[in-house]
Amino acid sequence: MKKRLLIVDDDREFSNVLKEQLAESKWLEVCGLATEVDEAWQMLQRTRPDMVILGGIKEAERGVLCQQFRLAYPQLSFIAACSPQELMWEPFFRNLGIWVVAKPVQPGQLEALAMVPQGMMAGSVHQNHPNPLEVPPPLHAPTNQIQQPTAEPFSESSYGGSTVPKHLITVYGPKGGVGKTFISRELAIFFSMQRREGRPMRVLAVDFNLDLGTFATTLNLPRTPNLFTWVQDIDVQLQAFVQRQGRDPFTVRHEEWQEYASAVTLSPQDIEKYIVCHAETGLHVLTSPRDIRHSFEIRDYHLYLILETLKQSIYDVILIDTAPDTTDATIQALFFAEHVVMVGNPIVDSIENIQRLLKLLREAEYPEERIQVCMNRLQRREMFTLDEIRAYFQLHPSRKIFSVPDDAEVKKSINTGVPVMMHPGRIAAKEAIETLGKALLPVDTENTGVTPKGKTKDRSSLLRWLWG
Ligand SMILES: Nc1ncnc2c1ncn2[C@@H]1O[C@H](COP(=O)(O)OP(=O)(O)OP(=O)(O)O)[C@@H](O)[C@H]1O
Ligand SMILES: [Mg+2]
Repeated sequence: MKKRLLIVDDDREFSNVLKEQLAESKWLEVCGLATEVDEAWQMLQRTRPDMVILGGIKEAERGVLCQQFRLAYPQLSFIAACSPQELMWEPFFRNLGIWVVAKPVQPGQLEALAMVPQGMMAGSVHQNHPNPLEVPPPLHAPTNQIQQPTAEPFSESSYGGSTVPKHLITVYGPKGGVGKTFISRELAIFFSMQRREGRPMRVLAVDFNLDLGTFATTLNLPRTPNLFTWVQDIDVQLQAFVQRQGRDPFTVRHEEWQEYASAVTLSPQDIEKYIVCHAETGLHVLTSPRDIRHSFEIRDYHLYLILETLKQSIYDVILIDTAPDTTDATIQALFFAEHVVMVGNPIVDSIENIQRLLKLLREAEYPEERIQVCMNRLQRREMFTLDEIRAYFQLHPSRKIFSVPDDAEVKKSINTGVPVMMHPGRIAAKEAIETLGKALLPVDTENTGVTPKGKTKDRSSLLRWLWG
């Protein structure tokens, strides 16, 4: 039986062309065209579609709209038709369970989605999908490759449709040695020591310095299992999958792997197989590979799948420590993040590189509201004041630049593997990190078990960035 499709787009031309293209389809019939939200509601009620394709609608946030429609009609599948510029938001749409297709839409892509069983996780269909009529099913973890977990697992009941908002925070700085790893570690420990809804926050730190990461060392943690262990398992799954499609994995090209990977979902429960646990605080850590050579085998699509899966996990906060580069790992970590801590030192070369990076991100229309600038290793007397630095970065005067003082305790704490955050006394750097942590994510200071205020606001403003 044909699936019924409602097209919602204020561009009549787009809707009419699509309707015409689908006129002969054996799989889909267009049951209505709507150009406004009110009209879409009426048509939903009147025509009872199976699928809705959401193009651009003035003054409407597509993600919010989709959630509202879904509340009233839970069985509906959603497809966001995005212009090439909007495709950067694909991960966010996918997190909301919305399929993503690029404009101009190919009717074959919609037909392929019409054949996907209802309830399957959303994925993406790019125009050059190897076989658009064959959207692959989600993969399942192989049972023969399971590593011994070294971390204490969270309870099973914590899975299953958890609606707790996740916070992915990427700590970045376009210069080496400015304190990214130190700040990531301290923030991760800070959040691990906080409570949410009467329980300790579930925090994961991820070391995205794939070749030379030292996050594990700074907490005296082992380096096995690690990110590469996960990558190996992903490869086993992807290879088994392409073999089931009748392909020889050795003949699959990089772009085809990207396509296969973008159409699959991994199970978030499996993350625990790849992490190590910091016993003192319960922090989970996904460390970088033990052997530098392993990092050479990690591809962009592995990282994409890993980030996608992390976003679906039960962690309240995920902190990603990055390398001072512009490789794919770093750029993906920036684009997946809800908050970015841009770390620098009050030294001209570090300041210059932050400025260059901000320029690049502004050109890419990256939502600047996500970026918190943090000047680390501030001394009593600096040549540049924070106000001067803010002006140089052309930040809005209302934007705060965070600072962490240069503190002898830091070196000691890195050498001993004991974070300053766990130090019982008053340490200047510790207090500064606490201020930054609270600004990033309001915490349950009284441990009352009450959901921190401001969550909804955070989320909706994020949506406004995306679809406003
Ligand atoms: N606030 C601080 N006070 C004193 N020393 C600091 C401070 N922050 C960082 N350091 C020193 O700087 C060194 C480098 O810090 P860290 O490894 O965190 O930098 P990074 O930006 O992660 O470096 P990389 O670019 O190599 O990953 C630390 O070993 C520590 O000794
Ligand atoms: Mg580092």
